[in-house]
Amino acid sequence: MKAVRIHSYGDRSVLAYEDAPLPTIAADEVLVRVVAASVNPVDWKIREGHLQSMIPYPLPLTLGWDVSGVVAAVGTEVTAFAVGDAVYSRPDIQRNGTYAEYVAIRASEVAHKPKTISHIEAAALPLAGITAWQSLFHAAQLAAGQRVLVHAASGGVGSLAVQLAKSHGAYVVATTSGKNRALVQSLGADEVVDYQTQNFATLVSDMDVVFDTLGGAVQEASWEVLKPSGILVSIVSPPPEEQATLRGLRSAFVFIEPNAPVLEQLAWQVDAGKLRPLIGAEFALQDLAQAHALSETGRVVGKIVLYVGQP
Ligand SMILES: NC(=O)c1ccc[n+]([C@@H]2O[C@H](COP(=O)([O-])OP(=O)(O)OC[C@H]3O[C@@H](n4cnc5c(N)ncnc54)[C@H](OP(=O)(O)O)[C@@H]3O)[C@@H](O)[C@H]2O)c1
Repeated sequence: MKAVRIHSYGDRSVLAYEDAPLPTIAADEVLVRVVAASVNPVDWKIREGHLQSMIPYPLPLTLGWDVSGVVAAVGTEVTAFAVGDAVYSRPDIQRNGTYAEYVAIRASEVAHKPKTISHIEAAALPLAGITAWQSLFHAAQLAAGQRVLVHAASGGVGSLAVQLAKSHGAYVVATTSGKNRALVQSLGADEVVDYQTQNFATLVSDMDVVFDTLGGAVQEASWEVLKPSGILVSIVSPPPEEQATLRGLRSAFVFIEPNAPVLEQLAWQVDAGKLRPLIGAEFALQDLAQAHALSETGRVVGKIVLYVGQP
């Protein structure tokens, strides 16, 4: 099969579109024929070697951890899926990923794809959607009527977080640049702060939850906008515990785990018309280097999706 693999860590030149062995499946796994995959910032961070101390990958490695596709084979213990099922997944990041024509995935990490959207759209959902869900509903326990600030609301994770928080009944304040203001409002944001011309730390207050997708100075300034006992949830860097304690606030760091029940919830939300993935760009698998270049700009609107095979 064709795949994009890396044989060493480095810049985009290490991405090799090449022949790779067809994955074999264990008894509890399914083989998925990939129709579409998507690009997440973690892909190029791993490519550059930044996660080496956390995950000691054997090389060559197939990157990419989002997929929508069709079940091509099932392991002997798998009962939830059959050959021909349309499925989607954010598989285990410790294993070979989805920049490939086929990927072997534990059946426990797979869910049936939403029925009302294409594979291209479905591939945009798993990693960003599970991350947003785990951050808002597991870590922050966001409740209806609460106020949440979502940073980088035009990005892959933020654009889903705004929709999920809004349909959950929260009051949503969002940051993005002026060019994306109308888009973020259309996703359901009640207030939009243009980070290029406005300072959210002086404009926003009384938040129950801040969802930090940027880290650094944005994270530091985010403490100021929380109400007493509010929570700062980051997916970029762990907020310092002592900062939270000093202010009587709470904090959490989320690193996404595979979660098929959440994928089922996301599919339900999509099919109920409450959630729609935002696609900013599409590339063929062999043009992956261009897709990484775009992701590395940090300016992507929604998700970058890769089309790999026929539906
Ligand atoms: N811990 C985890 O499990 C986990 C999971 C997923 C992602 N992440 C991390 O979370 C981060 C976000 O991921 P993503 O996929 O959403 O990224 P992304 O799609 O690349 O985000 C791009 C968006 O960020 C916006 N942006 C950039 N700087 C901004 C600022 N200062 N204020 C407001 N918006 C700003 C851009 O809007 P403009 O063009 O308008 O500036 C753009 O639309 C990445 O670092 C990623 O690695 C972590």
